[in-house]
Amino acid sequence: MSKKIALFTTEIVTYLKETGKVSFSAPSNIALVKYWGKHGVQLPQNASLSFTLSNCKTLTSISYSKKKETTADFDFQFLFEGNPKPSFEPKINTFFERIYEYCPFLKDFSFVIDSQNTFPHSSGIASSASGMAAMAQCLVAIEKALGSTLSEEQLTQKASFLARLGSGSACRSLEGPVTVWGAHESIEGSSDQYAVKVPFEIHETFQNYQDTVLLVDKGEKQVSSTVGHNLMHGHPFANERFQQANDNLKELTEVMQAGNMERFIHIVESEALTLHAMMMTSSPYFILMKPETLEVINHIWEFRREHNIPVCFTLDAGANVHILYPESVKEPVLSFIDKKLARYCQNKQYICDVVGTGIQQL
Ligand code: DP6
Repeated sequence: MSKKIALFTTEIVTYLKETGKVSFSAPSNIALVKYWGKHGVQLPQNASLSFTLSNCKTLTSISYSKKKETTADFDFQFLFEGNPKPSFEPKINTFFERIYEYCPFLKDFSFVIDSQNTFPHSSGIASSASGMAAMAQCLVAIEKALGSTLSEEQLTQKASFLARLGSGSACRSLEGPVTVWGAHESIEGSSDQYAVKVPFEIHETFQNYQDTVLLVDKGEKQVSSTVGHNLMHGHPFANERFQQANDNLKELTEVMQAGNMERFIHIVESEALTLHAMMMTSSPYFILMKPETLEVINHIWEFRREHNIPVCFTLDAGANVHILYPESVKEPVLSFIDKKLARYCQNKQYICDVVGTGIQQL
């Protein structure tokens, strides 16, 4: 066990409280350098970098009360938008089992977890990042209330660490505006265990960056991220891909400090297409893009060329398109989206988001 992991294993001898309630929101995030491929217990094969978002978020409250006697099982109830949702409980149970060694109080208390998302249900927007980040932050806040000996900085790291054990990309949602997950030589303090805020000032061009998410396909994905990650084991291009991601991350951090828009667009779009190229060259192979995804990409390229407006796209593991652009060109880009791209979205729906700073206490 590495030192860092031991650090997060805190035993609280006497609990300072028997009951209480904590509430936090955590946003989604969009990777610019993609995490695709993992090993061990949720450890990334390469470092990834993301913009933390603001509007697409999960709001979670956890009430806790001390059990009369510690039991071998976890005792919790999960409510989604105020209604019991037992179908989510096995997932949470698995998460609790995985983090129990770091949160031994989990078996001493009963919990009621109440969660809701700000974005429409089944919009094709992954709620696992915001959901796991919000839950992890609540658990760390409970640990603090019960008498944790960890410092504030360690508690923040621990929240990201726990979120990672729930879903890899979730660990990047605790802080913002830009975070890195995965040990990388050019990012001081970076770790495979948790994400950190980038340790430099971002050029003003990339501050308040806009992300409009086009809801091209709101259905369930045919191939889950977990299956996709696994297909990177034995993938013929895996090692080159992991190296490429680490190289892209290094250049992107330079580009984001310097304000180099041309290289930013190049790296971001290349990362998105490479992610999907990895899926298309897996065995078995699969395609998550839809015809509308390609239509949208071609329109973006045409618009950029014709109007010289710095707008670009990225994709996550699905058909939806994230359109990224500086705040200064918001008006022409939104009018372009409305006129040319909304028709490719299901029910003409898209979500306007902007880069943000991470979790918030409610
Ligand atoms: C394409 O974090 O959803 O969005 O760790 O198995 O929960 P698990 O996977 P997940 O994978 C996200 C993949 C991605 C790229 C990224 O966010 O970096």
